[in-house]
Amino acid sequence: MANPSSSMITPSSRKIALAPGDGIGPEIMDATLELFKAAGVMKHVEFLPAQMGKSEFDKGNSRGMSEAAIKTVEECGLMFKGPMETPKGGGGKSINVTLRKMFNAFANLRYFQTLPGVHTPYSKAGIPISMYIVRENIEDTYGGVEHRLSNDMIQCKRLISAPGCDEVSRFAFQTAHRMGIKKVHCGHKANIMKMTDGLFLDRFKVAARDFPEIETGDVIVDALCMNLVVKPQQYQMVVLPNLQGDIVSDLCAGLVGGLGFAPSANIGKHISIFEAVHGTAPDIAGKGIANPTSLILSGLMMIRHIGLLRTAALVENALICALEEGIRTGDFGDAGKPVLNTAQFTHAIIDRLGKGPKTIAATPVPETEALSAIPGNKPERQEVIRTFTDVVRQVVGCDIYLDTPLSTVSLAEEMQRICQDTPFKLTVISNRGTQVWPTGSAYTECVDYYRVRFEIRENVVPGSFGQSRCVALMDKIAEKFTVCSYELLRTFDGIKGYSLAQGQ
Ligand code: NAI
Repeated sequence: MANPSSSMITPSSRKIALAPGDGIGPEIMDATLELFKAAGVMKHVEFLPAQMGKSEFDKGNSRGMSEAAIKTVEECGLMFKGPMETPKGGGGKSINVTLRKMFNAFANLRYFQTLPGVHTPYSKAGIPISMYIVRENIEDTYGGVEHRLSNDMIQCKRLISAPGCDEVSRFAFQTAHRMGIKKVHCGHKANIMKMTDGLFLDRFKVAARDFPEIETGDVIVDALCMNLVVKPQQYQMVVLPNLQGDIVSDLCAGLVGGLGFAPSANIGKHISIFEAVHGTAPDIAGKGIANPTSLILSGLMMIRHIGLLRTAALVENALICALEEGIRTGDFGDAGKPVLNTAQFTHAIIDRLGKGPKTIAATPVPETEALSAIPGNKPERQEVIRTFTDVVRQVVGCDIYLDTPLSTVSLAEEMQRICQDTPFKLTVISNRGTQVWPTGSAYTECVDYYRVRFEIRENVVPGSFGQSRCVALMDKIAEKFTVCSYELLRTFDGIKGYSLAQGQ
């Protein structure tokens, strides 16, 4: 979808890897496929089984997916999945996160709309919601890079890259352009995280230049949350970094009736994954009463993604027609209407294929449809993606992180002594990001993990040496202290590539 390559192949049919999932997964997947079959999807699509989830974890496979399943997904380039159980404890990681990261599905696209028959405070107040959240899907704290640094301190690294920001922003604008969305916002916290969120916002603005027809805005994420609750209809599409996007997209699901009505697509250059966002609902699994709407809506995103716009419109209209008439499963809807089980709910939608809603505009049904082209350039190896090249980088110092229970004053004395005969001087000591030396407040509480900042002395020319002098300084410090890590302080084309401590 993003970055279509020159070697595009127009297929006569598409293969899609299918993983029904755990708990209610197989029940809602059966229902969705039955509906899709009735609508004619199978004329264009072949689903290939991919073994993933609990059955694989139970075999001791900590990745939760078989090699054959990985191959199937890579060959298809598309995957349709039900919810999967994340093992509690042990080494098993969330398969959902693993899939997105492993196959580089860098953008999570979720659509939130007011649906007839799904009552919410907003629908009751006559406030219509129709909005997309685009969440960066790979980076941020979701890299899961975490370390225990001292007795009392644990760290999670937040990684934000320029190419990662570019990919997700470009995808958002391309999607907005295709769907006729007139305004796209960037949600961020660049007022506090000036470098990471600042980069996310900057690259959003750069991507926007190629789409002059789309208006842009930016909003700090906490204000965004309030605005979404107070006046959700003011947003059409919001792009956010991973963690903030995760939280905001569930907030938006709440606005339209919960996770059961919020479809999700994970879009990558080569592989895209479509899934329901709710879990495996173990409390109702096997009872045949689960609501398949979220998976159906995600499946609709998938068949639109491959070009089946007519079929998707037919299914969507039938689904909305059913919801409008009060067709429901037990987890939602008008208490005065009968509760249907999963199969009855599905058949009610099938019965309405060809019909549309009356209280809201039906989705226009195109006359024809054709499968869209797929990128034919399967990568031979992992690609290095780059945004900035030819940047002049100069070493101007280093931050050294220490596990020590010393007081600030004693630590400063030790550090000044150690750096005496080096090109560096001690400039700042901070604790939990707050400056505690050379100035600070007695009210600042310190923990057993410090950052000591060394910068080159006035008589040293920036860039006159590389990293090795910093490593030598760290080595000297390590003779007496536990060095947890160090970060180079560099300028990039003359601009500081590091932040100041709070209070510096
Ligand atoms: P859950 O979403 O499975 O259940 C929360 C509540 O919502 C339960 O009362 C459940 O019955 C109900 N519910 C969920 N989906 C429903 C549906 N389609 N129809 C009717 N009712 C529905 O969340 P929970 O209990 O926190 O997680 C259970 C398992 O699911 C865990 O192992 C978790 O790791 C996994 N999970 C998987 C996800 C995925 O594969 N994308 C996402 C979230 C959780």
